[in-house]
Amino acid sequence: MLTLAQLIKVVLDEAYQDIPGTTAEKDKAIKSELERLSANYGDLKNSKRVAIDYSSAVARFAYIYKYTVAHADYIKQVIESNKALRDLFTRTDVAVACLGGGPGSDLLGILKYMIKAGSKSALTCYLFDRERAWGDSWSEVAKTLKATFPLFPVFQQMDVTDKTTWEGYKKFLHADLFTMSYFLSEVWSFQKEAAAFFEHVFKHAKKGAMFLFIDNNDQKGEFPAWFDSMAKAHGVTVVASNACEMAFSVDEEKKDLDPYYTKFDWPKRKSNVVVRVGIKQ
Ligand SMILES: C[S@@+](CC[C@H](N)C(=O)[O-])C[C@H]1O[C@@H](n2cnc3c(N)ncnc32)[C@H](O)[C@@H]1O
Repeated sequence: MLTLAQLIKVVLDEAYQDIPGTTAEKDKAIKSELERLSANYGDLKNSKRVAIDYSSAVARFAYIYKYTVAHADYIKQVIESNKALRDLFTRTDVAVACLGGGPGSDLLGILKYMIKAGSKSALTCYLFDRERAWGDSWSEVAKTLKATFPLFPVFQQMDVTDKTTWEGYKKFLHADLFTMSYFLSEVWSFQKEAAAFFEHVFKHAKKGAMFLFIDNNDQKGEFPAWFDSMAKAHGVTVVASNACEMAFSVDEEKKDLDPYYTKFDWPKRKSNVVVRVGIKQ
């Protein structure tokens, strides 16, 4: 079985190949994309902002390199820290719905936990995202990883602000776990349009379904407040709540991420985050 860094490297190599131009042109485009993404993430509460476009290969490469490695590790750490979440991965079958999970961070974090814990659960993982192109990045993940447990990733395109794109999906509502990793902040400015989707998910999630929310610890606490209000309205009890700095070391992974690590510096490591784990009653 590959390590996750080796797996990410395979995905990055594919995205890198898809970026047009010479090596120097690609690298220049990636550096400028890393800056564009970072500037966008500093402006998530701007009500006039337009949605971030992840459709190009360069955007996908930049996001996966800079953010996916870190976010996956944070998700692994949250699962490790919570018994109810750990217990999920002792079941024979587990279904997870990753909302805004296109870049693969949520899936990779779960895989990282399962591999470390020696879980043998059969994992069905729905990745829901507005950007269809993410599907290309992770469609081969099961084949590439050669996991020692059954792994069924399912990419489904949906825009949470457009009911016609999500009302047809039914199966994911039976998920054992819903993840929202850096997703509520991303759709914060489109809250009014996205409300019906979240209402649908929280309302129809089955009894015992778990929710894992992790996001930027914004000064006003508006991102977790949004999660908390939806949880309260739909009988989801918050069983773990935290605001802290999360960090991880890419030392182990560094070598596997080369030549990108040498060219593009460290992926994100430390973040000031808010976390909630909830269980539907
Ligand atoms: C900041 S990324 C978070 C990705 C991943 N969960 C993580 O933790 O790294 C936000 C994701 O939300 C997706 N997204 C943005 N607006 C969306 C919408 N209206 N409906 C569905 N997905 C959306 C983006 O395409 C992107 O993949």
